[in-house]
Amino acid sequence: MKLNVKINGKKFDLEVNPNAMLIDVLRDAGFKSVKNGCSEGSCGACAVMIDGRPKNSCIILAGQVQNSEILTAEGLGNPETPHILQRSFVDHGSTQCGYCNPGSLISVKALLDKNPKPTEADVKDALDGNLCRCTGYVKRIEAVLDAAKIIQKGTKGKK
Ligand code: FES
Ligand code: FES
Repeated sequence: MKLNVKINGKKFDLEVNPNAMLIDVLRDAGFKSVKNGCSEGSCGACAVMIDGRPKNSCIILAGQVQNSEILTAEGLGNPETPHILQRSFVDHGSTQCGYCNPGSLISVKALLDKNPKPTEADVKDALDGNLCRCTGYVKRIEAVLDAAKIIQKGTKGKK
């Protein structure tokens, strides 16, 4: 099938098997930030935003996202112009091996888009489905709360 989607704001017209998993379609299209940790919807490493909602792309078929808008971590920022959340993850030591970070960043971007002043409980809830073997979970919560404050002040970086 022809899959028409917007990925990180750009239109794509991809020839795909409708039964292919979205994670594979995205990685084949070059979006390597989308990671495979479990292939069964339980680790969050493959999370992407689909029409504004975070979803695990390893349990979504390509045929289910026709005409959707997808955001991957590549669409947040890059090393030269990182998103405030990305910079805050680095500043707070919330990235070690980094494997979980793209999915976690997508989950918290979705949170801040709908709730710019989250509580610690809100952040914990948003990251509930994103497993991390390295950082002990506390630092990424601090990173998100700090990023939310910076975004509200509108002082630096990009939202
Ligand atoms: Fe998709 Fe783990 S790889 S949830
Ligand atoms: Fe290694 Fe999270 S930083 S799994």
